[in-house]
Amino acid sequence: MKIVFTKDYQELSLLAAQLVAQHIKEKPTLTLGLATGSTPIGMYQELVKLFKNQEIDFQHITTFNLDEYVGLVPDHKQSYNFFMQKKFFEHVNINKKNIFIPDGLTQKPTEYCAQYEQEIKNRDGIDIQILGIGRDGHIGFNEPGSPINSSTRVVNLDQLTIQDNARFFDGNINAVPKQAITMGIASILAARECVLLASGTAKAKIIERTFTGTISENIPASFLQMHPQCTIIVDQAAASLLKSIQSSQ
Ligand code: GLP
Repeated sequence: MKIVFTKDYQELSLLAAQLVAQHIKEKPTLTLGLATGSTPIGMYQELVKLFKNQEIDFQHITTFNLDEYVGLVPDHKQSYNFFMQKKFFEHVNINKKNIFIPDGLTQKPTEYCAQYEQEIKNRDGIDIQILGIGRDGHIGFNEPGSPINSSTRVVNLDQLTIQDNARFFDGNINAVPKQAITMGIASILAARECVLLASGTAKAKIIERTFTGTISENIPASFLQMHPQCTIIVDQAAASLLKSIQSSQ
């Protein structure tokens, strides 16, 4: 596991975008795992800039998003589908048929989730998986208690996650869906490379617990310690409780 310390969110976003860009240059048919939430927004903005400057071409890549709320139509303003279109896909030349985002409206979740896993396999797996982290240590929507062998499935959201995500629903906790479809811990760990981004003081405690504590289902992100090729990019605020590691690097 490699930890990259950046001075602020802007530098974190730039580094993450450069890392993705480098991978696409090396493998134009890259399969890229994508995340939502506020943290990767800066990275998407930087990737769009690189595209506009003709430094990167998304034409042949495939993307798989980690998760989606159950029950939201794709053009609901808080759906992750809408988020991805507005923050990224609309601004670059990704081929629509190569975009995969879980369908929160599926009527056959078991079959659908198995099919999502199969689509990832059909593209020879995910080359690089971008991740954020929730304050309870969730990755994707794998809440505490998510087993290491979990695959794409429907999950119930934790109260803390619902509370944290209410800010996107005009602060209305009742408007936040209670369930989501998420890629599992096993689906995430199967990616050839994982890159987790964390910014801000609100993430300092969970970053410290995740990467200096024991590996446990109680903090799903801690499973990343087992991944052979995992990079954590943190800004100063998110890394503020990782002092001992910082000083030894
Ligand atoms: C949501 C998403 C996660 C994301 C997390 C953190 O719950 N499902 O993938 O990592 O939020 O979001 P933020 O980056 O806004 O703190």
